[in-house]
Amino acid sequence: MCEIETPRLQLRQFTFDDVDDLYCIYSHPDLIKYLSNDKPFQKEHTRAAINSLVKNWQQYRFGIWAVVYKKHEKLIGHCGLRFLENTREIQLSYLLLPSYWGKGLGTEAASSVLSYAFEVVCLDRIVAIAKPENMASRRVMEKVGMKYQEDAYYYDNHVVYYSISRDAYRYRNRGFKHTTNNGTLVGAREALA
Ligand SMILES: CC(C)(COP(=O)(O)OP(=O)(O)OC[C@H]1O[C@@H](n2cnc3c(N)ncnc32)[C@H](O)[C@@H]1OP(=O)(O)O)[C@@H](O)C(=O)NCCC(=O)NCCS
Repeated sequence: MCEIETPRLQLRQFTFDDVDDLYCIYSHPDLIKYLSNDKPFQKEHTRAAINSLVKNWQQYRFGIWAVVYKKHEKLIGHCGLRFLENTREIQLSYLLLPSYWGKGLGTEAASSVLSYAFEVVCLDRIVAIAKPENMASRRVMEKVGMKYQEDAYYYDNHVVYYSISRDAYRYRNRGFKHTTNNGTLVGAREALA
């Protein structure tokens, strides 16, 4: 698994040492509505969730990273790639603790994951969905270059569906070079606009 280093974030694999911190995130009252089960997350499910995230990484060359805010050495959320419900399309997904919102960190994480998807794994296309009223998530999609395609229905919700192709990503990021250093992707670029 490739780790990712951005100016303010480290994206690394989840481990069972993250159980308590991840439970605090997934059971945060302001975040429950963004999780697909729409129910409070029980502590006993956290270990199973980490196990599943780690197994996905072993099965595919992509998955969900633990997002660590380097300055505080704190796990603040997740960001990564997963299959979109009932499809083989690959979805960009992100979630951060509310106390870290509004500082550009969602965009920084999402942008670095797209770098990984297109530059390291060479995927063809990445999609993302959000409830129409989730303007912060839609704005993150736009800032990393994704384009609205259509209204859709996933995970029992009406959503807006965005996508970006590898060609569009490369055109947008032309001239910028990503490097890998001992398995860590560095130089992941902040979004342009
Ligand atoms: C989506 C999420 C990761 C964004 O994280 P973040 O670190 O705050 O994101 P950023 O600071 O990089 O960018 C947020 C953008 O949304 C904008 N925004 C936030 N709330 C907004 C609102 N109500 N209306 C319009 N724009 C809004 C911000 O102004 C910013 O845009 P700007 O840079 O042009 O000013 C965070 O809000 C989150 O974890 N939400 C809950 C989980 C979630 O929604 N996940 C996606 C599920 S589809």
